[in-house]
Amino acid sequence: MPEIAYVDGGFLPLENAMVHVEDRGFQFADAVYEVVRTYQGKPFAVEEHLGRLFRSLEGIQLRHTFTVEQLRGLIEEAAKRAGFAEAVIYLQISRGQAPRHRGFPVKSEATLVITVRGLHSTQQARERGVRVLTVPDNRWGRCDIKSVALLANVLAYQAAKQAGADDAVFVEADGTVNESTAGNVFVVSGGEIATPPKGPKILSGVTRDKILQASRAAGITCREERVMKSDLFKAGEIFLTSTTSEVVPVIEVDGKKIGNGVPGPVAGRVYGQFVRMFAQ
Ligand code: PDD
Repeated sequence: MPEIAYVDGGFLPLENAMVHVEDRGFQFADAVYEVVRTYQGKPFAVEEHLGRLFRSLEGIQLRHTFTVEQLRGLIEEAAKRAGFAEAVIYLQISRGQAPRHRGFPVKSEATLVITVRGLHSTQQARERGVRVLTVPDNRWGRCDIKSVALLANVLAYQAAKQAGADDAVFVEADGTVNESTAGNVFVVSGGEIATPPKGPKILSGVTRDKILQASRAAGITCREERVMKSDLFKAGEIFLTSTTSEVVPVIEVDGKKIGNGVPGPVAGRVYGQFVRMFAQ
């Protein structure tokens, strides 16, 4: 199965794909991205991902000539060419190549890069659960824009690994829980689900929306409301959601067991409903 890329208007093997050193994505992280996955070779929730991509592009005033139809076509072609049953399709659009200066270049053409790799199964994480570390949310104020500037996420993830945990969850100084380094947070208490509301402090996850739909379809009450750090320790269950990991139960926060310290039944039920509704 070939790992492939699309760059400069054509497909090629991933290892041969390159962008210019003065691309603004490389110089300034002046770029936005999306991660789409496939189920049985078919790209999933493409409209939702492209909707968010166009909102991100608008959010950073990136001029471009791409259309939804064109990008949808490229995503489908990329999935077909690579041929993985379960693939991760990464799309990045930068403000293009220009001599390094922070000002928007007068003339630059947006750079589109797509890569396709096989998706590693996250079944083990789902079955075992993960341990998370809470860290201060020192990211910028527009986390609803899917910016490639992920240094805070990279360092938080590394801090979690160094502390013997699997991932980190961003928490504000007042105790407000936002999201994990690459996923949304759901808290289960008394059989009901709460997740932080959409806004500038979180990425509005495509999976988050699908999980809310699936949970409600399974008869579970869901609230989109502020979640505090203290709520994490009182929760019966916690789980994280994202395109690549789907639903991953959290069994420990800052070294303290959540619930019984094993993946809980609500996460399992929600995941089962998600698979029935969307992933088969
Ligand atoms: N991450 N929050 C953050 C900070 C994320 O990076 C992601 C996704 C999500 C979940 O969004 P979605 O359900 O649309 O994947 C929430 C992707 C997968 C990534 O960066 O690899």
